Amino acid sequence: MTDGSKRGFRTRLSHTGRAGKRVQGFVNPPVLRGSTVLYPTVAERREMAARRGERLLTYGLGGSETHWALEDVIAEVEGGTHCAIVCSGLAAVTTPLLAFLKSGDHCLMPDSVYGPARSFANGVLKRFGVETTFYDPSIDAGITELMRPNTTVVYTESPGSHTFEMQDIPAIARVAHEHGAKVLMDNTWGIHHFQPFRHGVDVSIQAATKYPAGHSDVLIGSVTVNSDEDWRTLQSTTRGLGQYASPDDCWLTLRGMRTMGVRLAQQMDSGIEIAHWLSKRPEVKQVLHPALPGAPGHAIWKRDFSGACSLFGVEFKPEHSVESTHAFVEALELFGIGASWGGFESLALPTTGFVTRTAGGTKFEGPLVRLHIGLEDVADLIADLEHGLKVMREFRQ
Ligand SMILES: Cc1ncc(COP(=O)(O)O)c(C=O)c1O
Repeated sequence: MTDGSKRGFRTRLSHTGRAGKRVQGFVNPPVLRGSTVLYPTVAERREMAARRGERLLTYGLGGSETHWALEDVIAEVEGGTHCAIVCSGLAAVTTPLLAFLKSGDHCLMPDSVYGPARSFANGVLKRFGVETTFYDPSIDAGITELMRPNTTVVYTESPGSHTFEMQDIPAIARVAHEHGAKVLMDNTWGIHHFQPFRHGVDVSIQAATKYPAGHSDVLIGSVTVNSDEDWRTLQSTTRGLGQYASPDDCWLTLRGMRTMGVRLAQQMDSGIEIAHWLSKRPEVKQVLHPALPGAPGHAIWKRDFSGACSLFGVEFKPEHSVESTHAFVEALELFGIGASWGGFESLALPTTGFVTRTAGGTKFEGPLVRLHIGLEDVADLIADLEHGLKVMREFRQ
């Protein structure tokens, strides 16, 4: 027998989460839908109810083979022991915050956090008596200054949403653990290129809507932990909230993950090639792609990540107006204007005006656009961008 844990990423993506004989031998488990499970006797029903929490068909909310197969593949990709599937990436952000925080606690969040996570902290968490302090994402071990006796969660996201600041996760995790706090990380960008539990993270969040589902037609999220204790904490809140993803969406995501390795590899290469091309353009001040040598956060990326996804930012020179970047984006034919990322298609989104910063940190002088590179031919995407940049240069208000 070979040691499966030493096998490559794509092999594990292909072979993990197969239910085999339990699903009549089909390669992928078929969609298993249902709410009520019937029992032959009351005693059997009682016995099964007492075993809620195990992987048994007791009631639809507890999941089925379709959910468990996806949980196994995601736990494998993240390098964790247990995974909970939830209904969206945002639910994967909010559910562990509710699980690991309680009234009277203090939470630390990076200033570059995904916008709806900030809104959740300022809204729901505040209403339930949790105070959040937003910190400069480049704070590193300096986070020690912000720790309070009641700080129980240090939330991280690296790189940051829209502005791509890299965080020194091991340094932050060391401080958090010294103070007895849990480290939560939105690892959607890192996907398998960043192994959260090897770097001190306790709870890893994936908006599986992105590369895992991969086709811009599913909303789904996952929360992965690496200990039985954290699993108990997470699972009680996940179940208490009635968190559930439809079996159809789990099935589509599992299907997506079987080919995610090749999609990610292609999209990483295309993304880096296009980021490099943009970095040489006279209109561009800087490309916010951590894998580009010289880009902000490159040293941390090189130390902690084994690759990159295909989402990055572009800061244009300040002489270009925000309106001219709108003209640039609207002139593109192959890039759709829309939120989300990780699908097979390219996207462009002006982000100036959508970035809230309250803790100082990076200031941008020029307008920002976020690009997601899909599976189209790079030469066609570059030709499209070239045309868009021409429209942008000629733009007159
Ligand atoms: C970094 C990050 N986390 C979480 C989410 C939320 O994912 P979903 O759209 O599935 O709710 C997003 C969505 O864009 C995201 O970019």
